[in-house]
Amino acid sequence: KSAIEKKSERTLGLIKPDAFLKVGKIVDAIYKDGFRVAQLRTLQLTRRDAMEFYAEHEGKPFYPALTEFMSSGPIVAMELVADGAIQKWRKLIGPTNTFTAQKEAPSSLRALFGTDGTRNACHGSDSTASADRELGFFFGSPSRFPSTARFNNCTL
Ligand code: TYD
Ligand code: MG
Repeated sequence: KSAIEKKSERTLGLIKPDAFLKVGKIVDAIYKDGFRVAQLRTLQLTRRDAMEFYAEHEGKPFYPALTEFMSSGPIVAMELVADGAIQKWRKLIGPTNTFTAQKEAPSSLRALFGTDGTRNACHGSDSTASADRELGFFFGSPSRFPSTARFNNCTL
């Protein structure tokens, strides 16, 4: 394994329904920040899918609106690879609330493409455990097609 491969980390990035049409600008920002996109797919979650994906928030006051929103239209799911990808992607998307993001991180993706406190353009895994679970949710085993990431690396 190369040094780059050893250090690299994977995370699950989502482009949520409110930012679906901004996929071009968001993928451009992802490459400019130095990520590789190992896998990418477009899909629409059912309400049940959204409830399972966000099960950690079950019972919270925003859970019904969140799962309704997340199943309201198409989304883009991405396996993002970089050194420290989990924190790196959380930093690129910015604070959870779009209005907070616009004040505190105006060049973040949530500031630029989000709508409000629930419709906030992007999702990012918050730990290695959640990245593993969430990559599995959308793609199955994260290392199923390792050659995809290598090919992607060569084209940059
Ligand atoms: P959370 O995991 O706390 O934020 P993050 O996406 O930054 O990890 O919450 C999950 C999603 O739930 C969040 O992206 C938007 C929505 N949400 C609300 O609608 N209201 C809230 O008060 C919070 C905290 C989150
Ligand atoms: Mg979260």
